[in-house]
Amino acid sequence: MPCKLAAGNWKMNGLRADLDELRALIVAHPNPDCGVLICPPATLLSPMADIAAGSRVLLGGQDCHTGDSGAHTGDISAPMLADAGARHVILGHSERRADHGESSGLVAAKARAAHRVGLTAIICLGETEVERDAGTTLDVVLGQLRQSLPEGASAVNTIIAYEPVWAIGTGRTPTLEQIAEVHDALRAALPDAEMSLLYGGSVKPGNAAEIFALANVDGALVGGASLKAADFGAIIAALDAA
Ligand code: PGA
Repeated sequence: MPCKLAAGNWKMNGLRADLDELRALIVAHPNPDCGVLICPPATLLSPMADIAAGSRVLLGGQDCHTGDSGAHTGDISAPMLADAGARHVILGHSERRADHGESSGLVAAKARAAHRVGLTAIICLGETEVERDAGTTLDVVLGQLRQSLPEGASAVNTIIAYEPVWAIGTGRTPTLEQIAEVHDALRAALPDAEMSLLYGGSVKPGNAAEIFALANVDGALVGGASLKAADFGAIIAALDAA
């Protein structure tokens, strides 16, 4: 069985004052059955690692460089994330693919860097609205999967997140049939059928349960609703109940 995971992506949000949200989450959900992961901005990894010590909450980065160290101003490496307490790293998020021109080949190279230091790579895939309207969703997503997965990717070191670009931060979600169609196709194409498949894009307390009830959805990658302990806690509870 693939592992169930509720993953929060804080994106470029979060100051030290927001650490109370993590404290509240740990108090409210001390013993979740599912995995719980928060990917804060890199500046909060170390203080979060102190707070999360002894709890079930795991931490992750939001991106890493392909190299381990060197002259790359402003970048962060996989060894640095691991050193700060991360166990996972999100790679190839559509905001990085769009804002920073990241190709699937680059995402694969970043995943290799993550795997070298034992980080689990959460590789994000998803079609734009134009691609969906053109009927090319499965071609796009399966093509990204093929090109973004490094050799040696397995359920132990890699998680896939399907995130339709048009559903991210918009409050619009695909129909359950649309989510199921892509997740079923991804499951059939994975090199390891035990790999966890997350859905992401406007997951909220109100729609989490029906999404988690789908056969090939093993959890969620949550943006906006992961910032508040009450909302993210409700999503964790829905995953535990699924
Ligand atoms: P959202 O973001 O939940 O705010 O739509 C999801 C994501 O980008 O991972």
